[in-house]
Amino acid sequence: MMYMSLWSNPKNLNRKVRKVVKNTPSSSTVQGIILYIYTILPSRQHIRQIQLKIYLQTKKLLPNSDFALTTHWKMIEILLNLQLLAPFFLFLFLILPLLFFFSSSSFKNKDPVQPKDIVTIPKSYPLIGSYLALKRIGNRRIQWLSDIVQISPAATFTLRRPLGRIQVITGNPATVEHILKTRFSNYQKGYSFINPLSDFLGTGIFNADGNTWKFQRQVASHEFNTKSLRKFVEQVVDAELSDRLLPIMALAAQQDRTLDFQDILQRFAFDNICKIAFGYDAEYLTPSVERSKFAVAYEEATEISSKRFREMFPLVWKVKRALNIGSEKRLRMAVREVHEFAKNIVREKKRELKEKETLESVDMLSRFLTSGHSDEDFVTDIVISFILAGKDTTSAALTWFFWLLSKNRRVEKEIVKEIMDKSEAPVYDEVKHMVYTHAALCESMRLYPPVPMDSKEAVDDDVLPDGTVVKKGMLVTYHVYAMGRLESIWGEDWAEFKPERWLEKVESGKWKFVGKDSFTYPVFQAGPRMCLGKDMAFMQMQSMVAGILRRFTVVPTVAEGVEPNFISFLSSQMEGGFPVKIIERETSN
Ligand code: HEM
Repeated sequence: MMYMSLWSNPKNLNRKVRKVVKNTPSSSTVQGIILYIYTILPSRQHIRQIQLKIYLQTKKLLPNSDFALTTHWKMIEILLNLQLLAPFFLFLFLILPLLFFFSSSSFKNKDPVQPKDIVTIPKSYPLIGSYLALKRIGNRRIQWLSDIVQISPAATFTLRRPLGRIQVITGNPATVEHILKTRFSNYQKGYSFINPLSDFLGTGIFNADGNTWKFQRQVASHEFNTKSLRKFVEQVVDAELSDRLLPIMALAAQQDRTLDFQDILQRFAFDNICKIAFGYDAEYLTPSVERSKFAVAYEEATEISSKRFREMFPLVWKVKRALNIGSEKRLRMAVREVHEFAKNIVREKKRELKEKETLESVDMLSRFLTSGHSDEDFVTDIVISFILAGKDTTSAALTWFFWLLSKNRRVEKEIVKEIMDKSEAPVYDEVKHMVYTHAALCESMRLYPPVPMDSKEAVDDDVLPDGTVVKKGMLVTYHVYAMGRLESIWGEDWAEFKPERWLEKVESGKWKFVGKDSFTYPVFQAGPRMCLGKDMAFMQMQSMVAGILRRFTVVPTVAEGVEPNFISFLSSQMEGGFPVKIIERETSN
């Protein structure tokens, strides 16, 4: 309030502003608007006054604190920035009524989902691009963009975003190959992806380009491919399954309780990946244990960081971050918690390594440390990135998998038949031979990919194979969800959940898995940056499916005919959770 009253005194307008207003050739209304904008912003003179006040007051309260000085200088920076932002506020002031008019009048009360035959490329307006259409679509953006891909020539179209940002969206395998492999170095994650995640992920593999990425990729791929890591992952999954997940499901079945299965699968994946990444048991799935502080902080950091991508004007979150308010304040606290926790584990392991010259644990962090990568920031960032990569992807895949099984009991029967042929806790070699289950998982991720859209930023001008011109700085997005639904790739029956499209009968009468090339099915991305955890993910998912379906049937409690909504933040989710009942299978005992 104090600041507002200082700022809004018209006498404080500096000479420059008076000149701007005087020289504005347009009507007095426009002059009035400019005058108003400048009056609500601080003049440099008042910034100085406010600086002084803040400085004196903080000094008085905390005479010996460095924090006082830091805060003081931060405030100076923010206030100066606010003054520099005057044209931006002016812009907002002029266009907001326009936006309000469009969104509140003729566009209201229309069915947000248009039938496929009248899907069109959205209209674009100066400055705001297709913002109105994007806003109207709300949380069905993925499906809507997918519908547009389906009707676009060469399955590619150009979306104009607010403030002149242009995004090419494609479902064309040739273009996917072009951006992910042929011209790999021209299509990077870029500033618009890296910047919103950098507070949380630092320069970890998931959030790096160029040499920083290349080095981590080399180090990590070596570790991912070891037999001993596979064995370790197998043990971790088995333990989490038999000691935690199955008892929870058995109890729910016995008590006829409804479970949010999406939440359960996410907790399972979190425990699992923490154990594999840095040997820590987060105990996130165990209902009796107080929720792990680390897990809660990690979830919060992921959620707020991913919401930064949704902000139409990134400046909004940047100002909030500079002021350390609201969600940005919570993010800062969560990130500090995650980083401190991870660094403590790193330090403990380093101490152990120094004392014993070897580490007993075989998790990824221990492997990096024993192979000589001891820089604290480097290993912390890479481990935090691994957790993000492995945390919600397998759970997203399995949530939709169990949903599809509930609609396709024939497929479930086939899977159960395959499982019953294996031992109760199948080892890696057995899991590897569960081809029908593997095909069913691929088929489920075709329709509901855990990462439904992925964008790259053009480093330089380029032309895509279909002739689309790409300018430096533009985003090129491959739409995985749309690609799984293209008739040109999957045929007329693309909407059917049919694991058999991934299988071939061989002479012995057994199934043989027939994969698709990774540019046609880029669920795990493709090219040099393809997912490092693909094999690990399949092993985990197949073991879980085997463990669960051997004993239980998962029955959704949603009303007949209701389709859950597919949404996505960094990875996909079922909107509102996945409520299910667990039924003990009669054949088990
Ligand atoms: C069904 C499960 C999974 C799916 C569908 C999946 C998909 C993907 C996709 C699409 C990317 C590229 C993301 C991008 O560059 O923007 C990726 C990268 C990555 N994934 Fe996975 N992932 C899965 C599970 C896992 C697991 C369990 C791990 C284990 C840690 C993992 C580790 C990684 C890593 C380290 C990267 C970064 C690779 C790089 O940038 O070089 N993923 N994954």
